Amino acid sequence: MRKKTTLITGASGEIGDALIQKLLKEGKTNLVTLDIRPLAPEISRQITHVQGDICDQSLLARIVSEYEIDAIYHLAALLSTRAEFTPEAAHKVNVEGTLVLLNIASDQSQWQGKPVKFIFPSSIAIYGLPDLTEKANFLHVREWEWNNPRTMYGSNKLYCEMLGIYFSEYFRQLASDRPVMLDFRSVRFPGLISAFTVPSGGTSDFGPEMLHAAAKGEPYACFVREDSRIPFMAMPDAVKALVDIAAAPRSALSRRVYNVTSFSLSAGEFRQWVLKYFPQAEISFEPDIKRNDIVDSWPADLDDRIARKDWGWNPDFDITRSFEEYLVPNIKMRYQK
Ligand code: SER
Repeated sequence: MRKKTTLITGASGEIGDALIQKLLKEGKTNLVTLDIRPLAPEISRQITHVQGDICDQSLLARIVSEYEIDAIYHLAALLSTRAEFTPEAAHKVNVEGTLVLLNIASDQSQWQGKPVKFIFPSSIAIYGLPDLTEKANFLHVREWEWNNPRTMYGSNKLYCEMLGIYFSEYFRQLASDRPVMLDFRSVRFPGLISAFTVPSGGTSDFGPEMLHAAAKGEPYACFVREDSRIPFMAMPDAVKALVDIAAAPRSALSRRVYNVTSFSLSAGEFRQWVLKYFPQAEISFEPDIKRNDIVDSWPADLDDRIARKDWGWNPDFDITRSFEEYLVPNIKMRYQK
């Protein structure tokens, strides 16, 4: 008998790390994780980790032969800045990797006779506003507005959302025997901030980088202008969004892709919050015009009212709680060690 399990890809990344800890805390130990990198030693003892490439079909075939997968959290991705330097590699991981996983979820749904849940973090990067005037005109962007990404990563995420919808609703639509289809559910995240890890390769990284540098007592030159504004969310809320959308009854979901957000800050305001807790921090602004253009194309805020209405989305951490109760105490502890 194959063991029932939840598969988590990109498990060694920022979201993966936090998600695994949350699931383990909730007593969910039947996890198989996959990542090109090893897992943090303190969590790898508790679960089965497979180290390898999500595009490696034979590796995935081995996982499928050993486990009955009832849900997939597909987190593996190359983020927006890194993807601009290696667009083909990004496409391979972000799109081809997702396609492989969707096919696995699809086969598993058919074999098990019930839809396998496919949970997919999408991103603010799927939006693309043409200029700062429109950005100021459309402060709270809704799911169907401005779906014009200007990065490889944003394009990959938007296309994968579409693939997820296709595999859930239209796959083999012309065949006489329609298969049992998977159940794709996705949230579009703003910039995420963790107290325990520093992101790498993203374009929203200026926020977390500023905070972690301050806690380490290192000077930081922010790569966007002071007025550059995007929404953010503390990592515990990000994993809560993933777990909650996975748990929602299908009948409550009027869509497959939802905006979720918590608070919106300009880089200058972010600096002020950091200075409140780390008054000695040396934070300057040395904008990188190209990375700033990407941030400028992302909305100043997201409208997440459909998620709130359909599945009760509500972040636990607003700006004050994020800094006071989650980020600052944990970051201080981390760097004091
Ligand atoms: N944090 C991501 C990035 O900056 C956006 O989703 O690429």
